[in-house]
Amino acid sequence: MFRKKKKVLGLDIGSSQTKMVELSAGKSKSLVNYGISKVLPDAIVEGEIIDREAVLDSIRTLVEGKGFTTKDVVIGLAGRDVIIKRITMDRMSESDTREQIKWEAEQYVPFDINEVTLDFDVVNPHFGENQQEVILVAAKNELINNLVSLLKELNLNPIVVDTTAFAVQNVYEYNYTSVPDEIVCLIHIGAGMTVMNVIKGGSSLSARDVYYGVNAYISKLQKEVGFNFEDAANAAKGTVPVGASEDSVHGVFESFVGDLGTHIERSLQFLSSVTGEDKVSRMYLSGGGSLVPNLLEYLKRRLGVPIELLNPFKNITYDPTIFTPDGVEVVGPILAQAVGLALRGE
Ligand SMILES: Nc1ncnc2c1ncn2[C@@H]1O[C@H](COP(=O)(O)OP(=O)(O)OP(=O)(O)O)[C@@H](O)[C@H]1O
Ligand SMILES: [Mg+2]
Repeated sequence: MFRKKKKVLGLDIGSSQTKMVELSAGKSKSLVNYGISKVLPDAIVEGEIIDREAVLDSIRTLVEGKGFTTKDVVIGLAGRDVIIKRITMDRMSESDTREQIKWEAEQYVPFDINEVTLDFDVVNPHFGENQQEVILVAAKNELINNLVSLLKELNLNPIVVDTTAFAVQNVYEYNYTSVPDEIVCLIHIGAGMTVMNVIKGGSSLSARDVYYGVNAYISKLQKEVGFNFEDAANAAKGTVPVGASEDSVHGVFESFVGDLGTHIERSLQFLSSVTGEDKVSRMYLSGGGSLVPNLLEYLKRRLGVPIELLNPFKNITYDPTIFTPDGVEVVGPILAQAVGLALRGE
């Protein structure tokens, strides 16, 4: 999962929209092409593909509509069937670590070890006297196999499987200078899921997903204000339908961000209990949910930490007209994971 390959497409299969990004080959990157395509509601629920045809359609629309020609694809995984853990184990060579990791993983992975694909990255080769720190990733084979067969059906060739948390981290590291010892929290808010990753000095301390995102806001607006899905989704973006009560939308907003804030606070408590570190100095938000009007300001006030939107194109060149009409400020955070995946290419 951690190895680099030649030029690739970054494909983020989200539950509300699929995103695809192609970057130039070589060291300094430019944006060649991107696309965003809707997925039918409920086609993907809690990371599981329920309606395979709907997902196929969405990816096909992207590839054909946007004329992507590269076939090698990097995909990102998140959810219940993916485990990311920073572990310590005896220091040994990389090849011995590869041999040993299965036995280590057994203590940390709550699934049958014969039904998962494992990978690792040595993030700190010198820990204590004779230990090393390793990030272990385990993903259920069933999840990977389903996605691989889906992509093969579209004549795409999946070459690397990554995780959402690391793809977003990859984007952060490519674009921002990290201060050693500073703890940064990356929060990727999607439609159905929010992925959090606490990093220090360029490596992940701990990552965690919660099944809470903009969908919760949209369905609350449907239930409590009586909007249909489309009006509710527009209201979540700040466009309240004519004649609707701004006050009731605001009430639902308060309840949504309140719950999201509680999820984030709990996750931060959990993450600090795992890492022993509790001073997050900065946070970066990405994912479509980061664009909900006033959400960032609310979290800033509630958590008392500086928070910014993550710009995945800060160090990537692009023709500004490529983002017309929405602009990079809107499209950028939505593409964060797909850019992080595309950066796995060389
Ligand atoms: N400009 C915007 N303002 C507010 N909300 C937005 C905006 N653009 C998209 N969203 C919302 O963000 C969500 C889409 O974001 P994103 O593409 O990150 O989610 P996803 O990857 O499909 O979901 P998940 O990762 O949870 O499966 C949708 O719920 C959409 O309504
Ligand atoms: Mg997503």
